[in-house]
Amino acid sequence: MREHKIVVLKGDGIGPEIVEEALRVLDAAGEKFGFQMRYDDRLMGGAAIDAVGVPLPEETVTACKAADCVFLGAVGGPKWDTQPGPNRPEAGLLGIRGALGLYANLRPAKIFAPLKSASPIKDSIIGDSMDVLIVRELTGGIYFGERGTGEENGESYAYDTEKYTVSEIRRIAKVAFEMAMKRNKKLTSVDKANVLDSSRLWRKTVIEMSKDYPEVELSHMYVDNCAMQLVRNPKQFDVIVTSNIFGDILSDEASMISGSIGMLASASLSDGSFGLYEPIHGSAPDIAGQGVANPLATILSAAMMLKYSLDEPEAAAAIESAVNAALETVRTPDIYEEGLKKVSTREMGDAVIANL
Ligand code: IPM
Ligand code: MG
Repeated sequence: MREHKIVVLKGDGIGPEIVEEALRVLDAAGEKFGFQMRYDDRLMGGAAIDAVGVPLPEETVTACKAADCVFLGAVGGPKWDTQPGPNRPEAGLLGIRGALGLYANLRPAKIFAPLKSASPIKDSIIGDSMDVLIVRELTGGIYFGERGTGEENGESYAYDTEKYTVSEIRRIAKVAFEMAMKRNKKLTSVDKANVLDSSRLWRKTVIEMSKDYPEVELSHMYVDNCAMQLVRNPKQFDVIVTSNIFGDILSDEASMISGSIGMLASASLSDGSFGLYEPIHGSAPDIAGQGVANPLATILSAAMMLKYSLDEPEAAAAIESAVNAALETVRTPDIYEEGLKKVSTREMGDAVIANL
C-alpha cells in the first residue's frame, strides 16, 4: 500500500480542531483510494514558544525535511503579541518558509457555487465563475531583505529593503507560467514598475521568460490598479504572479471577494513535489475551542496536498466534490444560510466524510 509520511503542525487557536477534521478526511480518503497516511506531530508557533521557548524548534525543521510534505493549521494569537519580533509565532512561519525553501505560494480564490451569496460583490460583477490563482513569491523581497533600526539626528529610524535577484524572479515566474498553461493561459504579473527598481527588474525578467511560453497571454499591472481591478472585474484574472508583500495584500483581498475566507486553501512549494499546506485564514483565537470553526479550508488544503505533493489526484478530486456536496446541506456558523443545518466543526468533518 502507498504510504505518505507528513509532518503535522497543528499550531494555535482553532489550528488543532480544524487539522483534526482534515486528518480524519485524509484517513477516510486513504481507505477508499488505497493509501495510508503517517502523521508526525511537531511544534511550531505559539505552541512551540509555550513548550520550548522558541517559535520554530530545530527538531521541527529536521522532521519536516525528512517528510513527504508538511500540513499546517494556523499560528499566532494575542497571548504572544507582546513577544519581540524574532520570538513571535509569525517568525516561526517565516522561518519555516525560508528553511524549507518554500518560494512559491499558491493561493486560489474562487467562488464555491453554493456560497455565491456570501460574496460582498454584486452578482452582476462576479457572474457564476470567479476563479483566480495568486502565485505569491514567498522567500524573498522585503520580508527577507536587509533591515535595521537606529538613531539619526536625535530620532529613531527603521528600514526594510525590497530586493529581488533575477533567479528568484525566474523561478517564481516559471511556476506561474506553468500554472497558467494548466489553466486558462492568462497571466498577469503585478508590480510597481512605475516607481520601484526591483519591480522594473521583475517586469523585464517576466517578459524575457514569456518567450518560453508563447501560448500564455501575459499582461502587466501596477499593484494599486490590481487592487482596484480585483473588485471592479475579478473575472478578468486567471493567474496573478507577484512579489511577497504584494501577494500578501492581494491574496487577502481576493479571498474576501469569494466571501468565505474559511473556505480557501493554500500551498507553499519548493522545487520538486515538496510543499507545506495550510488554510489561508488565521488562528481565530476568539472562537478557538468552541467547536464552531469552519474546517473546510483545511480539508481543501489536504486535497491540494494530495494533488501537488502526494500524487493522489483522484483522492484530491473526491475530497473537493465531497466538500461541495456537504455545502448543499450543512454549514458552520460563518457560512450559515437560512434553511440549511447549522453544524459544528466535527459535524462538518463528518458530512465531508459521508460524501466521500
Ligand atoms: C500570510 C500571513 C503571514 C504573511 C504572516 C502571518 C507572517 O499574513 O501568510 O499571508 O505575512 O506572510
Ligand atoms: Mg497575509
